[in-house]
Amino acid sequence: MADKDTVVLAYSGGLDTSVAVRWIQETYGLDVVTLTIDLGTHEDLAAIRRRALDVGAVKALVVDASEAFVEYFIWPALRAGALYEGVYPLATALGRPLIAKLLVDTARQEGAGAVAHGCTGKGNDQVRFDVSIKTLAPELDIIAPAREWGMTRQQEMDYAAEHGIAVDVSRKSPYSTDENLWGRSIECGALEDPWAEPPEDAYAWTVNPADAPDEPEYVQIEFDQGVPVALNGEPMGGPALIEELNRLAGAHGIGRIDHVENRVVGIKSREIYEAPAAVALHAAHAVLEGMTMTRPALRFKGAVSAHYADLIYDGLWFSKFHQDLAAYVLSSQQVVSGSVRLKLFKGQATKAGVQSPFSLYSKALATYDEGDRFDHQAALGFIALHGLPTRTQARVLKTALPEQEVRPRLSPPEIKPD
Ligand code: ARG
Repeated sequence: MADKDTVVLAYSGGLDTSVAVRWIQETYGLDVVTLTIDLGTHEDLAAIRRRALDVGAVKALVVDASEAFVEYFIWPALRAGALYEGVYPLATALGRPLIAKLLVDTARQEGAGAVAHGCTGKGNDQVRFDVSIKTLAPELDIIAPAREWGMTRQQEMDYAAEHGIAVDVSRKSPYSTDENLWGRSIECGALEDPWAEPPEDAYAWTVNPADAPDEPEYVQIEFDQGVPVALNGEPMGGPALIEELNRLAGAHGIGRIDHVENRVVGIKSREIYEAPAAVALHAAHAVLEGMTMTRPALRFKGAVSAHYADLIYDGLWFSKFHQDLAAYVLSSQQVVSGSVRLKLFKGQATKAGVQSPFSLYSKALATYDEGDRFDHQAALGFIALHGLPTRTQARVLKTALPEQEVRPRLSPPEIKPD
């Protein structure tokens, strides 16, 4: 008994989604229920609720989803080592499937026939929302006003003025930003010139590394099966730990990322990110994996990480492929427990120390000093067999394929000492 006259709109409280409330009413004649989701940035939910009702929502719902965001989205992405194109910790991309899920749940509770979001037609976020929503709830229609209305920024302001929608000047920025607990995404304006260094005012969570303290600061992170559970010896819940680390690492200028990235829709776009905690935690997690996983496991995990990051970026969170990779990742993390000490200094989080009950590092095997237990003689047999196929093939090629010039030279021509 879906109420075809109701739509649930993901509402941030900003200009785009405020204009969207009125635009949907005018264009589609629907009642708009707004849903505002706090993903760990401590929004003033009461004020956003008032604004939603002011601009014409029939009902304004708010929810703090930061716990669920960390447990079901951030930690799995950290365990997976998911950094898009090796650098972007995916804050925005991870938030979208959770928002989609909450939109779908709310639409069902409200008996709505449609959901709506404020994405334009050229970004990744519309893809993530639409694919997630249609996967979870094929019966729901999707309205994306900003993709449909074709207004310029100025026309949108005019529309707001005509309809008595206040433009919050305190929110006005030369950039388009999105933020949640895991990071901040900044685009547009001066950033669209990849030759230009990002202006300092693009950053809000990090100091310029040049202005960071001249003394390093050390932090210790405890992991339990790939999940951070304590900071500097103090057990902490996920949101509190990430928030604290954002503050500590941000104060040392850590987490600034300048990336020309490949969008799903085929565009290369210049994006700036700030993600102090995410950068520090990925670094620490990788250090611990390096201590506790074997070489083939690490190589395979690297490949999994790249695929995992792509599927998150590409909006395929609710896919079977994701479930399959997640099962592998979860199993791989059984040994990723222990402590990592990081040194925070002038924009870098570097390894200062690591220990784990699952450590595969053995001083007796590694040392060049007293107490060496490595069998040096065993190396000879190993080398003989390890090199066997290479030596065999070299002998065969000498007669079977003598024209060296058809193959790349791997060493200089013969050198004759005099
Ligand atoms: N390019 C990033 C991504 O695709 C960030 C997008 C930011 N979104 C925004 N509405 N400003 O995940």
